[in-house]
Amino acid sequence: IQFSAETMDLVQRIIKRYPEGRQKSALLPILHIAQAEFDGWLSTPVMDYVASILSIKPIEVYEVASFYTMFNLEPVGKCLIEVCQTGPCWLRGADDIVEHFEKKLNIKVGETTADGMFTLKTVECLGSCGTAPMLQCGSDYYENLTTEKVDTLIEKLRSSNQRSTYMKSNMQEI
Ligand code: FES
Repeated sequence: IQFSAETMDLVQRIIKRYPEGRQKSALLPILHIAQAEFDGWLSTPVMDYVASILSIKPIEVYEVASFYTMFNLEPVGKCLIEVCQTGPCWLRGADDIVEHFEKKLNIKVGETTADGMFTLKTVECLGSCGTAPMLQCGSDYYENLTTEKVDTLIEKLRSSNQRSTYMKSNMQEI
């Protein structure tokens, strides 16, 4: 397990933003990068690799990675569909949206399609309640969802055949 040269350069620039001896502060952004680089999830060897880069104990990485729900500790599909199910989204039909995904993808919440393309999850408020119901896929929000919009989105994601990543493209700006 190793970052590409380009990713390692980005990682080093992020570490340099923190004072000497405080490299641990770079853990969150580097975990996002690691997740984007290594198939959308953080395996134990990947977390150990991050620990070695930051010269910290692996347990310190496991603690952080297992605390935040945006880190996946199990393999996920190329497109991780996270449907908000908190009050405002629920009132505006989030359940119907989830049910529609389940039917269209032939999976239940928490499962991945057999082709490894989609994983369906429900999550708590993503801060876009004014455009409920909504979902997040990678760094994109899809809002004011209807079942028709879900059909279009599934088609779009399937035909692009890209892994949805979160944060890595934003990190390039650093
Ligand atoms: Fe869904 Fe806030 S309740 S974005």
